[in-house]
Amino acid sequence: MTSGSTKRTPVGTLAAGPGGASMTRALVRTPSLEDADRLREFVCRLSPQSRYFRFFASVAPPSTSLLRTLSGANGTADILLATDSCGAVIGHAMAADARVAGRLESNIGLVIADDWQGRGLGTGLLSLLVSRAAARGVSTLVLDVLPANDRMRGIITRRWPDAPVERTRDAIIIRPSIGPAAFRGGLRAPERSAA
Ligand SMILES: CC(C)(COP(=O)(O)OP(=O)(O)OC[C@H]1O[C@@H](n2cnc3c(N)ncnc32)[C@H](O)[C@@H]1OP(=O)(O)O)[C@@H](O)C(=O)NCCC(=O)NCCS
Repeated sequence: MTSGSTKRTPVGTLAAGPGGASMTRALVRTPSLEDADRLREFVCRLSPQSRYFRFFASVAPPSTSLLRTLSGANGTADILLATDSCGAVIGHAMAADARVAGRLESNIGLVIADDWQGRGLGTGLLSLLVSRAAARGVSTLVLDVLPANDRMRGIITRRWPDAPVERTRDAIIIRPSIGPAAFRGGLRAPERSAA
């Protein structure tokens, strides 16, 4: 795992926007413990619906414990932040691995700032997260989605149409299998720089 440190590691850049000259770039990096204030601002700026879709609860202002989790202070998850040209956090993606019956599963959480949604950033971060999970040997993703979250359900269904779906009282849990294909770029590849 690359999180849970005082050191930020650049991962690359993602192009975001409708295409052509209107594209902008977001920097993708791992978080450091110094990102707590940026993450607090990011969570507080999310719309109530985005917060609810991601955290299944009202989490603004975020607790110290949530901020520690989001900034990787626990060091148990792979976390990616997308930042804008001013350094503000505009996207957060995390994959928390667990060994279940001898196999590595990874629980995925993803949220994009409201004014950046629908510009390709979420699917770009998801692709990066899945590639990194596959490289760690993760064989199954676990995605908890609220039934009303059509956008995320669509993203998952289009990428993993055959993934097993479990319905709980409140949520839908989808468990796509991933493997070497995801690592080799079986998902739509994000634009990446060497930085
Ligand atoms: C879900 C979320 C992470 C997606 O990120 P994003 O940057 O908005 O998504 P992208 O622009 O990369 O992709 C948009 C996708 O949604 C689809 N889409 C857009 N509007 C949609 C809608 N109203 N209903 C269904 N699908 C929709 C697009 O076709 C595209 O899918 P495709 O790549 O398979 O064609 C983001 O919208 C978000 O943060 N939502 C709130 C938090 C959340 O729901 N997190 C997921 C919890 S599991």
